[in-house]
Order: sequence, then structure tokens, then C-alpha cells
Amino acid sequence: MEIKRIGVAGFGLMGGGIAQVAAQAGYQVNVLEASDVFIEKGYAALDANLAKSVHKGKMSQADADGLRNRVIGTTSVKDLSGCDVVIEAIIENLDIKRKLFAELDALCPPHTLFASNTSSLQIIEIATATKRADRFVGMHFFNPVPVMKLVEVISTIQSSPEAARIATELATAMGKTAIQAKDRAGFVVNLLLVPYLLDAIRAFESGLATREDIDTGMVLGCGHPMGPLTLLDMIGLDTIYSITGIMFDEFKDPKYAAPPLLKQMVKAGFYGRKSGKGFYDYR
Ligand code: CAA
Repeated sequence: MEIKRIGVAGFGLMGGGIAQVAAQAGYQVNVLEASDVFIEKGYAALDANLAKSVHKGKMSQADADGLRNRVIGTTSVKDLSGCDVVIEAIIENLDIKRKLFAELDALCPPHTLFASNTSSLQIIEIATATKRADRFVGMHFFNPVPVMKLVEVISTIQSSPEAARIATELATAMGKTAIQAKDRAGFVVNLLLVPYLLDAIRAFESGLATREDIDTGMVLGCGHPMGPLTLLDMIGLDTIYSITGIMFDEFKDPKYAAPPLLKQMVKAGFYGRKSGKGFYDYR
């Protein structure tokens, strides 16, 4: 199957990054958002990323302009009807995702492959909103998408081997390394990462050490690029909170239960970098 046009649902942190790497790989990209305001925000983040790459001499102005012109924002689902692959990166809400894919299923030709970037929902729960569960997989990217090299390709019990192969080849064309995972909440990375991050919150909450020392411990002691509390602020505490809810529901294992401090911070609107305050203050 030749892929020319990619649809991305969501122009936020993850969707914007996916649109960028897809356009960088030469694909035409249609990005769907709920309103013009979100499209403008998405373009602003993309422009800032491209300007940084040009400034650092990593990309020519002509290449950046070409990439930018290949990304077309829209608020109409119909504009994704000509896409060969649609990657969804919208809010982690099963009903909203199912509704979107049911609409896309009615609009897109039979060959179009559907992928969800969900980080914790089971793919099969979303895929069954369509009549093409065999052409439905997970493609889980990592934040920041332009930098992180991994994509988890998730096959459900209904995904065809061809669907997983197309997703794997697409990830490779986007400059990523794909690993294959089964359709279980958290897949490979979040299954291991989420308990670690929650333990860091518990350590801080119990007064074991300062947030700076917890982070320095993991950066200098284990060679991590950033400490767990800094990473939580980057991922978004609201995002992690919703992931823990889904994983706890799935496994009923206390290691996935949200520590009270995480819940309190989310309820207070302390989402991390995106809201200006999380474990650290970014204002
Ligand atoms: N968008 C694009 N590029 C970015 C970026 C962003 N948001 N943030 C950093 N970069 C680029 C920088 O421009 C820089 O590029 P050059 O090397 O070309 O100059 C490069 O990344 C390194 O950045 P910095 O020098 O500013 O800082 P750093 O060395 O600390 O790296 C980092 C930043 C790449 C984010 C690094 O700290 C890191 O890898 N952190 C861990 C990230 C991680 O674990 N991500 C996974 C989160 S889990 C997830 O996403 C899944 C989920 O479901 C929750």
C-alpha cells in the first residue's frame, strides 16, 4: 500500500508532534481539531519548533517552509476522508475516540489504516467502533515526539499482520524504531514507567527527600535524561492521572493507584509545564 496522505486527529502536544514528523518524512498531513483556536495553537507550536531547528542549522528555511505547507489544519472530519492512514491523538476518553472513529469509518475508503496513539486504553475497545478492526492498530508515540525515537505498535486480537506491518513501516519512514506489543493497558513502556513515576510521587509525598534530590538521584544515579518529577511535569500530571485511573481499573494493582498528592495537584489545576505549575514552578 502506498501512503501519500496521513490524517492526524488532535493538534495538541502529541498530535502536533506526530503531524510534524509525518510532514518531515514527506507525507501530506491533514490535522483535525475541535476549533480554530486549537488549530492556531497547534500551528504556533509547530512554527516555534521549526524556527528552532532552522536557527540551530538543523533544517534549511526552505525545508521548514515545505514541511509547514504540507500540514493542513481543519475542523471538519470530512477533510480526513482522503487519507491512507489516520492516527488519532485526541483526549483519553473512550466514548469520544469511538465516536470519532465511527465517523471516520463511514468517510474513509476501505484501504485506510486506523491507528490510535492512546497511552493506556485498550485498542480493541476503540477499534470495535469501526467495521475495520482488522485494519486498526495502536501507534504509541512518546513525548516530545520529534525527539523520542520509539513507537509502540500494538496489535489487537483482530488486527491483521498486514496492518501491523504497515504501521511498523510507517513508523520507520518517520525516523522511529517500532517495537511490537500486545493490546494490554500500558503496553510495554507505561507498564514499567508509570509505577516508577508514582513511586517517585510517593517518595516526595512521604518526605523521603526534596523534589530536587529525588530528581538528581535518578539523573546522576541512573543516567536518566531527567528526573521523575521533572518528567511528570513534562508529560502532564492530568495525563498521568488519567493513565493511572485506566491502569488501576484494568489490573486492580495498588502500584497503579494514584497517590493522594497527584490527585490533589490535578484537582488544583497543577498540571505541570503546560499550566505553569506542577512539582516545579514554570511561571
Ligand atoms: N520538541 C521538540 N524538540 C525538543 C523538545 C520538544 N518539546 N524538547 C527538547 N527538544 C530537543 C531540543 O531542541 C534539543 O535538540 P538538539 O539536540 O537538536 O539541540 C534536544 O531535544 C535536547 O534538548 P535539550 O538540550 O533542551 O534538553 P535535554 O538534553 O534535557 O533533552 C529531552 C530534552 C529530549 C526531553 C530529554 O530530557 C529526555 O529525553 N527526557 C525524557 C523524555 C521521556 O522520557 N519521554 C517519554 C515520556 S512518556 C510518554 O511520552 C508516554 C506516555 O504515554 C505518557
